[in-house]
Amino acid sequence: EKGGYDYFMLKEIAEQPKAVADTLLGRIDAAGSLTLDEVRISTAELREIDKVVIVACGTAFHAGLIAKYAIEHWTRIPCEVELASEFRYRDPILDPRTLVVAISQSGETMDTLMALRHAREQGSKVLAICNTNGSTIPRESDAVLYTHAGPEVAVASTKAFLTQLVACYLVALYLGQVRGTKWGDEIRAVIRDLSKISQEVERVLKTMEPVRELARSLSAKNTVLFLGRHVGYPVALEGALKLKELAYMHAEGFAAGELKHGPIALIEEDMPVVVVAPSPRGRSVLHDKIVSNIQEIRARGARTIVIAEEGDEAVAPYADHLISIPATPTLLQPLVATVPLQVFACELATARGNEVDQPRNLAKSVTVE
Ligand code: M6R
Repeated sequence: EKGGYDYFMLKEIAEQPKAVADTLLGRIDAAGSLTLDEVRISTAELREIDKVVIVACGTAFHAGLIAKYAIEHWTRIPCEVELASEFRYRDPILDPRTLVVAISQSGETMDTLMALRHAREQGSKVLAICNTNGSTIPRESDAVLYTHAGPEVAVASTKAFLTQLVACYLVALYLGQVRGTKWGDEIRAVIRDLSKISQEVERVLKTMEPVRELARSLSAKNTVLFLGRHVGYPVALEGALKLKELAYMHAEGFAAGELKHGPIALIEEDMPVVVVAPSPRGRSVLHDKIVSNIQEIRARGARTIVIAEEGDEAVAPYADHLISIPATPTLLQPLVATVPLQVFACELATARGNEVDQPRNLAKSVTVE
């Protein structure tokens, strides 16, 4: 059942191109527009929405953080992302014009379920993004957009995350399409790029041997830090979460701009710091900033591991280890940038002799609050 792989996690990482393609299947029509008929919230209602609130836990929460950038950019609807476990306890402001998006692989996470029940009690519509047919969260939601990752067995979420991202982009683009925004051309271009993205994920998977080698060489380290900007920031958080749960190492993700406000004090000689660099095309300001962040940490002794777009000449001189990923539109970069981080954590866990598919103290779905 592991299809020749040592672990389910390895199999599930390898299945990502297909999972991504399957999640897009049938949702982009021949004219390049989105058809999400299964989302049974009328276009009239979608036009009335004045706020989106995303609730989720763990890896699904990171997908939500990335979705916020996409939703606010393409639709100009304000979007909040909240840990489901915190949501109902702070008396959130919700009404019938709020669209609540609950993201969950299993569809059984109690924190997320309680958050969505709370939202519905306040009259908000709930759209579930879920990987498990007929599970509780989609059953209790007003609408559901299923991710088509297939069963995910390993406790550490990989292919479900990539498909959650795809689903989030679809929701963001669909809202943009339904409501009409000044980004019409960009939306059409991104839909085209999205329809080709599974090939890029495939390409990344083919270049992972140096990442595995690097992970093995770091197996005796105690701490790894992860930095990113813009959508690279949640990717950094996800990289750190994978390392915590699989390698049982101290790992933290930071927004790179926040470094100088405290975390830079953590940097010690030869400490591995993974940096997710945004594309040098497009928003080049962001890229300039990350280059100076990399210089700052390197000057303080960090061993820099930089995930950057192919051909990114500007970061190369400051990268002790360079991991190249294919060029994508800025907002879609997490689909390719996360993959090396999954491979990195999986290999480090293996090198440390940990149980990859079933990390200590964890369950695949957390059905208690
Ligand atoms: O089934 P869900 O997506 O609701 O699960 C949410 C989290 O428990 C889950 O993503 C968890 O953080 C993973 N083990 C991370 O790899």
